[in-house]
Amino acid sequence: MPSFEIPRAQLPDSSKIPALGQGTWNMGEDTHQAATEARVLREGVELGLSLIDTAEMYANGGSERVVGQAIAGQREKVFLVSKVLPQNATAAGIPRRCDASLQRLGTEMIDLYLLHWQGPHPLNETIAAFEALKTAGKIRYWGVSNFDADLMAEVMRYPGGQNCATDQVLYHPSERGVEFDLLPWAQAQKMPVMAYSPLGQGGRLLRSTALRAVARRHDATAAQIALAWCLRDGNTIAIPKAASAAHLRENAAAAQIQLTPADIAEIDTAFPPPRQKQPLAML
Ligand SMILES: NC(=O)c1ccc[n+]([C@@H]2O[C@H](COP(=O)([O-])OP(=O)(O)OC[C@H]3O[C@@H](n4cnc5c(N)ncnc54)[C@H](OP(=O)(O)O)[C@@H]3O)[C@@H](O)[C@H]2O)c1
Repeated sequence: MPSFEIPRAQLPDSSKIPALGQGTWNMGEDTHQAATEARVLREGVELGLSLIDTAEMYANGGSERVVGQAIAGQREKVFLVSKVLPQNATAAGIPRRCDASLQRLGTEMIDLYLLHWQGPHPLNETIAAFEALKTAGKIRYWGVSNFDADLMAEVMRYPGGQNCATDQVLYHPSERGVEFDLLPWAQAQKMPVMAYSPLGQGGRLLRSTALRAVARRHDATAAQIALAWCLRDGNTIAIPKAASAAHLRENAAAAQIQLTPADIAEIDTAFPPPRQKQPLAML
């Protein structure tokens, strides 16, 4: 299978990671589908989509088990992202939950471990626990998800907070509130942002007239244009979820599409950028 040239995004420590990967939400729900799902993820890795995003929450660990099957024998090819649930994000809970994730994933290290969203526990305690996991060699980087700009500023104030590697947020053409403050802030920090649900979960977004018109000009699909749009600033990592080889191939090929100023303007007309602060959108 030919592999695609996937652009790289730069972490705050200057390491480069794939800017386009694979999501796994809803995988592992049905054990009869697990082998097929793992095979699709492996095909994605072969195509170059070697960043895989999962979470302890997805299918109560089932998604991590599917990812474990997919990366067996090729762990070194994959940049592995998982997430801890906020209620578990304590000094005692984080190492326990991380060990459970590592076991399901069949690996000794998670590349990037995220706090899934802000929870009831003090952030400084969570950060200290993440830092301890790094020291123990169980994770390479840590980050957060669903954090707005004010919370990111708070993270930066705690000891070790400057080591936060990313913020994973909802981002696609019809959910672009983060462009007002969070994305410029992250760019200034040299911290990449991860765009989740970059295809708008495959719903109405992909039927947009503007995306389809731009797609026609590039001999592409609306999904590919949505992904190329997410990647356009070089500081965003997109993690579309796909369940078929055809979707995977389309998504991997999207990284080659260069949108023109006219394309961007047409998308701006259909989905205007934010002119003022908006509450952080999340699923
Ligand atoms: N941090 C968070 O709170 C959070 C929240 C939500 C999601 N996430 C992560 O982000 C990932 C992606 O988000 P998502 O799964 O919500 O939605 P998404 O990636 O925006 O959309 C997935 C949907 O798009 C379809 N699709 C994929 N490629 C396509 C293509 N080329 N053409 C047409 N349709 C296509 C998929 O269909 P098929 O499955 O049939 O291919 C699926 O129905 C998740 O899987 C998860 O890993 C994180």
